[in-house]
Parts: sequence; structure tokens; C-alpha cells
Amino acid sequence: MGIHTHGKTFWDCAGHDPKLGNFFNEGMASDARLVSSVLIDKCKGSFEGLDSLVDVGGGTGTVGKAIAHAFPHLNCTVLDLPHVVAGLKDSGNLKYVGGDMFEDVPVADAVLLKWILHDWNDDECMKILKRCKEAISKQCKGVMIKKKVMIVDMVVMDNEKANEENSKSLETQLFLDMLMMVVLTGRERREEEWAKLFCEAGFSDYKIIPILGLRSLIEVYP
Ligand SMILES: C[S@@+](CC[C@H](N)C(=O)[O-])C[C@H]1O[C@@H](n2cnc3c(N)ncnc32)[C@H](O)[C@@H]1O
Repeated sequence: MGIHTHGKTFWDCAGHDPKLGNFFNEGMASDARLVSSVLIDKCKGSFEGLDSLVDVGGGTGTVGKAIAHAFPHLNCTVLDLPHVVAGLKDSGNLKYVGGDMFEDVPVADAVLLKWILHDWNDDECMKILKRCKEAISKQCKGVMIKKKVMIVDMVVMDNEKANEENSKSLETQLFLDMLMMVVLTGRERREEEWAKLFCEAGFSDYKIIPILGLRSLIEVYP
């Protein structure tokens, strides 16, 4: 499946094989339905004061649509690879943009990265985070709002904190870590690894909010 077997990235394979691409996008959309409802319900405050948000690598827009519906004043953009968003129709406060997050991220008050950074290694994450920082820094409106990057991903627990009760959670986290390494170039990260990335990409602070099972919302501030 990975670059080692096919000489192409998983994303190239998914772009050239509609069956694989649709299967993957539908799988992600199913997880996105669950997470977006929890995100909107539990973390309403995180969207307060924002006028615009871009969901980077937002797939076919399941999370984008839910956020646009829950916050009608918020202009929501879903950025994904051109073949993923091809044919998807803008509606109301939701629009789709085909592009490459390593090249450019549309300007917005906030950038959402759900299940994105764990797909990529540290150097690749640094590039993505720098594009995101540029995107939230370009918007300049006189009004003070807390611009941010909102990451939904895992924060792997420390080995030392593992006990009988949470050993299954740690096992799942390590399994996903291996999966990301084998299929993609990514990995799961512990808090100090996330913190190092944020600092090196030029961000000043972050906050971790556990939202659902092993998933956390990590807000990162410029
Ligand atoms: C693991 S999926 C996450 C999808 C969605 N955020 C979710 O959680 O349901 C990663 C997404 O990143 C997109 N992606 C991969 N490379 C990209 C790039 N260079 N620019 C923009 N999106 C990209 C993929 O097409 C895919 O939709």
C-alpha cells in the first residue's frame, strides 16, 4: 500500500484508483460524522469569535458541512486535493477548494487539521504548519480575535502512565503509530513531540482538550 511497495504515496494511489479513493473517503467521512458532532457540542467555545475557518485536508466535507450548519455566520472552506473535491458543490457558507496544503492554505481566522498531521513526518508537518500560520496571519481586521490552528489528532500517553485500566488505549495508540509509519510517512506523537513541532513552526502556545476516546483537540496559537 505504501510508497515502499508501489513507488507512489498512498494519496497518489487513491487519486489514480477511484475504488480505493472512494473507499478511503467514505471511511473518513464516517469517522468525521461522529467527531464533528462531539466537536461542535463539546467545544462550541472554540468557534466563538471566528468569522472564517478552513478545514485543511477536509476530505469530502463532512466536518466542514457540520460546522457550516452549526455556525451559520462562519465562512467555511474545505481544502483537499483536486480529485477529492472535484464535483462537490459550494452551498451557503461552505465552499470547496482543490489545492495542495504544502503550497498554499486559504486565508482564514482558524485552520482545522483533523487526522492530518499524524499522516506526515516532522519535516512535512513543519511545512504544513508554516502554511497554516501564514494563512491565519494574513487576515487583519482591527478586531482582536484569537486566531488559531485547531488540530484533531491523538496525544500518545507516556509509557510510565500505562496501567491495567488504560493499557488497551496505549496498545491502540501504538498500533496506529505503526500503521501511519507503514502506510504513510507519519507517526503518532506524545505531548512533548507535539510541543516541539509547534515551537519549531513558530507558534507561541497550545492547549490540549480531550474530546472523544483517544482523540484530542489541540489548539495552537501564533
Ligand atoms: C486522513 S484523511 C483526513 C480527512 C478528514 N480531515 C477527516 O478527518 O475526515 C487525510 C486527507 O488529507 C488529504 N490530503 C493529502 N495530501 C494533501 C495535500 N497535499 N493537500 C491537501 N489535502 C491533502 C487527503 O486527500 C485526505 O482527504
